[in-house]
Amino acid sequence: DARQGVLRQTRRHSIIASLLGIRHIVLAVNKIDLVDFDQAVFDRIVEDYRQFSRDLGFQTMVPIPMSARYGDNVSRRSDSMEWYSGPTLIEHLETVSVDEAVVELPFRFPVQYVNRPNLDFRGFAGTIASGSVSPGDEVVVAKSGKSSRVKRIVSYGGDLAQAAAGQAVTLVLDDEVEISRGNMLVSPAARPQVADQFAANIVWFDEHALLPGRSYILRTETDQTSATVTDLKYRINVNDFAHEAAKSLEMNEVGICNISTRTPIAFDPFAENRTTGAFILIDRISNATVGAGMILHSLRRAENIHWQSLDVGKRVRADMKNQRPAVFWFTGLSGSGKSTIANLFEKKLFATGRHTYILDGDNVRHGLNRDLGFTDADRVENIRRVAEVARLMADAGLIVIVSFISPFSAERRMARELMADGEFIEVFVDTPFEECARRDPKGLYARALNGEIKNFTGVDSPYEAPENPEIHLKTLGKSAEEMVDALEHWLNERDIAEDQYDNGGGI
Ligand code: ADX
Repeated sequence: DARQGVLRQTRRHSIIASLLGIRHIVLAVNKIDLVDFDQAVFDRIVEDYRQFSRDLGFQTMVPIPMSARYGDNVSRRSDSMEWYSGPTLIEHLETVSVDEAVVELPFRFPVQYVNRPNLDFRGFAGTIASGSVSPGDEVVVAKSGKSSRVKRIVSYGGDLAQAAAGQAVTLVLDDEVEISRGNMLVSPAARPQVADQFAANIVWFDEHALLPGRSYILRTETDQTSATVTDLKYRINVNDFAHEAAKSLEMNEVGICNISTRTPIAFDPFAENRTTGAFILIDRISNATVGAGMILHSLRRAENIHWQSLDVGKRVRADMKNQRPAVFWFTGLSGSGKSTIANLFEKKLFATGRHTYILDGDNVRHGLNRDLGFTDADRVENIRRVAEVARLMADAGLIVIVSFISPFSAERRMARELMADGEFIEVFVDTPFEECARRDPKGLYARALNGEIKNFTGVDSPYEAPENPEIHLKTLGKSAEEMVDALEHWLNERDIAEDQYDNGGGI
């Protein structure tokens, strides 16, 4: 807008365009009619923008004064701006060259699916992201490093002698190498990186802030895995590019962070390859795309730390205790009765010779998590750490009872996915807010309702009730003993079912 010049929004969009690898910019200065087609106004805006965008890596920046309302310099050359001799917007868009030399880049073929119509044919289908390929070329499976040669390039119109970036083809190889969807076939001479930790730029789109420690789904061109931001290094101020400390990224904010994925992905730095260097983040609960990422580089430590596989295994440890590990994950409002029920449950288990441990919010917050408060970001980190500890304890063969408000579905789901199948048992201790506030065992509700405690669950911080808990304890009018009976019953049924399974299904 010629009346306003370079705005915050102009800067923000320019930074995002730059991160996305866009190298050709049109500075369309609109509403020039409202400043009397004044060249001085136009020149000043162009100069401002040039100053601002100096370090954004744009290769060309074409300023065009125009009036969308009257069509001046949109498709028709304006009669009111003798001083302007450049192209109209449409002329420019139709002629500007944005071709990238993706064919010159190393060969990258993300496998979209494995086409196996019968035993005699096995092909890998996808679109060539960069480079080119011919029959006889050696190719390598990015994640395993196994190599093979291209036998045929099958396409809709018949076999091809060569295929290049942008073409959708099916590749048939000489050998029976194992490649599943999400993997890449690549040039042996220039391989992508394979890592589960890397640094990236993130642009956040969602109204719920990005929270470090929360688990999101990370999707690349064809691969998908779980990912968390392990470290938000800084946020970029869109006005002056300053690096600002941040604990979360709000909508439209841009930040640099370290990301850790559950399984390794194959990628190139975004600066080298826009297709294989980009990803999106998806919210696990709403399935919405919440962020876009551009990979900078892998992190060294990812290559140097491997899960140590120990000789005394989980199964042996559990068998010695004569039990199956389990994680009973109690969730519910403060004062709902979680600790009381957990305590009694543990006593009962103990009495029957089970090996147990209770992880309780109030206690863990005195030690391991003493650095955390009750903001959304801190609660996410609180639950992430406890879930990891519970996993280690289950690995030690214990029956773990976790008792935290754990108000967010996303973190409870993350905890569930950390455990082995059938090991995570979500227990919803369902006591209505009014009842918790009436009991108020620690006097916290009175203070929260007075505004003396901030971010209190159920008052000014949300509680997302479980939708499908394994065990739903409606506590109103029931005793703790009755609740514990339900839990014991559930555990016994599970163990009987598993024994039958171990014995081949029959007794
Ligand atoms: S969680 O939300 O991060 O899972 P957690 O179970 O560890 O919470 O801790 C909850 C306990 O902290 C409550 O039982 C209560 O004693 C205490 N507490 C102190 N401040 C708050 C608050 N703002 N919201 C909830 N609980 C609080």
